[in-house]
Amino acid sequence: MSEIVLVLDFGGQYKELIARTVRGLSVYSEIKPGYLSADEIKQIGPIGIILTGGPDSVYLPDSPKCDPDIFTLGIPILGICYGMQLMCYMLGGEVSHGITGEYGRVAVTPVPSVLFGSRNTDFPALMSHRDIVSRLPDGFHATASTAACPIAACEHAAKKLYGTQFHPESAHTDDGREIIRRFLYDICGVSCDYKLDDYIDTQIAAIRRRVGDKQVLLALSGGVDSSVAAALLSKAVPDQLICIFVDHGFMRLNEGDEIERIFTKRRLRFIRVHAAERFLAKLKGVVNPEAKRKIIGEEFIRVFEEESAKLGDIPFLAQGTIYPDIVESGGAHGAVIKSHHNVGGLPENLSFSELIEPLAGLFKDEVRVMGRKLGLPSALVNRQPFPGPGLAIRIMGEVTEEKLETLRWADAILRDEVSKLRYKPQQYFAVLTDTYSVGVKGDGRTYDPVVAIRAVSTSDFMTCEYAEIPHKVLRRISSRITNELPSVSRVVYDITSKPPATVEWE
Ligand code: XMP
Repeated sequence: MSEIVLVLDFGGQYKELIARTVRGLSVYSEIKPGYLSADEIKQIGPIGIILTGGPDSVYLPDSPKCDPDIFTLGIPILGICYGMQLMCYMLGGEVSHGITGEYGRVAVTPVPSVLFGSRNTDFPALMSHRDIVSRLPDGFHATASTAACPIAACEHAAKKLYGTQFHPESAHTDDGREIIRRFLYDICGVSCDYKLDDYIDTQIAAIRRRVGDKQVLLALSGGVDSSVAAALLSKAVPDQLICIFVDHGFMRLNEGDEIERIFTKRRLRFIRVHAAERFLAKLKGVVNPEAKRKIIGEEFIRVFEEESAKLGDIPFLAQGTIYPDIVESGGAHGAVIKSHHNVGGLPENLSFSELIEPLAGLFKDEVRVMGRKLGLPSALVNRQPFPGPGLAIRIMGEVTEEKLETLRWADAILRDEVSKLRYKPQQYFAVLTDTYSVGVKGDGRTYDPVVAIRAVSTSDFMTCEYAEIPHKVLRRISSRITNELPSVSRVVYDITSKPPATVEWE
């Protein structure tokens, strides 16, 4: 793999989507900060550059800019939204505040051009802007327009500079992928040499070189990332990998056993630490969600340290860090809404001399493909996101074994019913609330807790809508939960989007 397309980031929320779309077209891509200098870019030697969108106005003094010399490198550039405005502004064009903004799907009228080919009929595209390019730099011409935006795309074909005000990377733009494909294939002239199999082979060779005959330790959470890392390492250095699975007791029904079953079949040493009692003891009387998260995170590290100390000196620590983890930690952080932690996310001061992160160049969907290629079962590879603190943050109030048992079954019923749906929400789970309500079962009055069902549609988990599960399915879920679990009084469905709510309840 030698070709690379750089995605220069100006703060747009779709940067990862752009890079993933490019990779999906068999071209390796990386996200870099927008201010990368032309010299640094020359050293990397990309075959194309894409400038992302961003929330700022290019004409404001503090808005992010790129090195103006990147436009003279002769490397094809596609500017998207803010990226197009930035390119036009820096090359002498004019960007101004539009009379009206355009948000959502808008009809775009293209003219035949290098980027759009012979396409000349309107197509809907995702717009999200107020500023517009009001005058093009010399040598450019408009290649598309909308009712509110006369320059909805532009190009200077001789200099290989292209721009779209809309977002071709979004699924809300019809045939947007085709526009990116044209940019890559027809303009950049890529040879499509990015293949996941090559990535696996390269990583295996690199791991073998680094590790030699030494041992590697991995904190296995049973999540997709650490599981795929374990599968890759067990292939690269079979019998030298030790996986510690700290079972905190907050996994879903049978999940801990399932993880044990999968990994004890592989050529690695698998240690399952049954630590449920220890975690429950630490959480006794704790009701505050942040306190729960903190206690579980700290206890996890303590257990891991104790177990790894028993193994003696192991020089290598492996982690399932993936590319978005790295991209995100490089960016500016907003307010902490809740302190996410990954069980398996270990502190930096552990006494390992070297860190191995074999998935650090991959996006989540690529990690899943890799997992399948490495023979992991699809139930594990397609696992929906599950928070590090597990069911403990899906039980409102104090966590007890009894409540965990109720929630595990309620959640299993929900998953069983939703798994029969053709279109499944991206994430769905049950929450055991601390609200009690009166009910009637048989001839008796009951007073038991309420279970809430949460199911969301989302592409990035940063925002979400509640999923419109058919009423008859909701009815079946409710009926099964209240019938099969005597200690639940009623079932409610959470219809809140994010924001203002978060996906998890705690
Ligand atoms: P929120 O609740 O913040 O969740 O809207 C967004 C996504 O993140 C998952 N989540 C976590 N994942 N450790 C994780 O690895 C955590 O502590 C954690 N808390 C929430 C959540 O399930 C959703 O997919």
